[in-house]
Amino acid sequence: MPEENFTNTLYTNDNLFVLNGLNSDLVDLIYLDPPFNTKRLFSAPIGSKAAGSSFKDMWNWQDVNEAYLDTLAENYPALTDFIASTSVVHSKAMAAYLTYMVQRIVEMHRVLKDTGSLYLHCDPTASHYLKVLLDEVFGKNNFRNEIVWCYKEREISKKYFNRKHDIIFFYVKSEKYLFNPTRLLEPYSKGTIKKFNYTDDDGRSFQIRGKGGEYTGKQGLDIKLEQTSPDLVYRDYLDKSGGILPRDWWEIPFLNRAAKERTGYPTQKPLALLQRIIKASSNEGDIVMDPFCGCATACVAAQQLGRKWIGIDVEENAVDILIERLSDDAGMFKDFVATKLIPKRTDLTLEPPSQSVKERLYKEQNGCCNGCGNEYLMKDMEIDHIIPKAKGGGDYYENYQLLCGNCNRIKGKNTMEFLRIKIQTRKNLLKEKIIFGE
Ligand SMILES: C[S@@+](CC[C@H](N)C(=O)[O-])C[C@H]1O[C@@H](n2cnc3c(N)ncnc32)[C@H](O)[C@@H]1O
Repeated sequence: MPEENFTNTLYTNDNLFVLNGLNSDLVDLIYLDPPFNTKRLFSAPIGSKAAGSSFKDMWNWQDVNEAYLDTLAENYPALTDFIASTSVVHSKAMAAYLTYMVQRIVEMHRVLKDTGSLYLHCDPTASHYLKVLLDEVFGKNNFRNEIVWCYKEREISKKYFNRKHDIIFFYVKSEKYLFNPTRLLEPYSKGTIKKFNYTDDDGRSFQIRGKGGEYTGKQGLDIKLEQTSPDLVYRDYLDKSGGILPRDWWEIPFLNRAAKERTGYPTQKPLALLQRIIKASSNEGDIVMDPFCGCATACVAAQQLGRKWIGIDVEENAVDILIERLSDDAGMFKDFVATKLIPKRTDLTLEPPSQSVKERLYKEQNGCCNGCGNEYLMKDMEIDHIIPKAKGGGDYYENYQLLCGNCNRIKGKNTMEFLRIKIQTRKNLLKEKIIFGE
């Protein structure tokens, strides 16, 4: 399926299912602003464009999709241990939140191109834990920045320093990543420009520095320069990029009540913040994805900057605001799709269950059922979807296993976790009967 069939689309569904249905190596930039585990219910004010929208930020095990737990435990055993430890160190809610997040981060990593970047927006409620997940999934060497977004808002606390910053983790998929910081240059201050009051033959500004401070000799003096020696004076050039390169802390005003772009959607982020990220880490025509898009600030910014976009939000009201917001924007968004359907990957070799698939699986499983572990003849085994189709699992080889008839019936349309618990309960019952008798 060509990428156009996935892009400029707002999906209203759980992002885990949508991500699962997107091709690998599809997206150039991912920005995500997930719920932060603040234990609050966010609602939009009555009368705002977003009235009626709300999303919960409270977590428990019901939020975790158990169908995806097996692959997680298999591919990231250290992370599974780490998350389990957070239930002791912090809380069960934190462990559930992190499991929910890591399932999605693994999928985001898969759909990102090798040249791509991911920006995860969070706050200190869970940032330290989230960074560990990202280090493991992306690789610690692919961490680039912890960006601090500082803002001024009404100060309310006298018990601690007022918390007026968010954290944005910036990771890349590989060394080949695209990054254009020079698009975010800030102009030099008047004071700086005044100090760099010499110009060389190429028109570059410099000041003269060296032992004893600034050199106040004649303008244009050509001095042999040895930056390493403190005894010599040297030319200190203004960076040739022509402005101040961006730092890892950004002062961008919080959206106040009167802001024109404000929709009222709870936790809406400023367009200026998204524009910075998109300019730095994508080019025109690239695909920007926001899997927790809310009122679609990232999609709007992407469209304004000539990028394609994919937005996902589980909240139905988000779509209405997006549609209103996009049509408000001077007809910029004529061609976009809003759908509840889950996309289907086209980069996997679809392989309907067949005799040859069964033979391959039988060999790989050494003739044993993947549930109870007992040996069976091939004719007594059945092909099963590891991730049930109802939970987004597809007809491809990696999603097949062989179960004995009994295990297959117990599992039904449930997850492997369900089957394991059932098998364990039966084993315990049997043990009790053997030890204590009926
Ligand atoms: C912090 S808000 C995002 C705000 C957004 N950045 C903006 O500027 O409007 C988080 C969003 O994630 C959505 N969300 C939560 N869980 C989700 C899931 N499993 N799949 C898709 N969206 C989800 C919520 O409905 C909410 O709109």
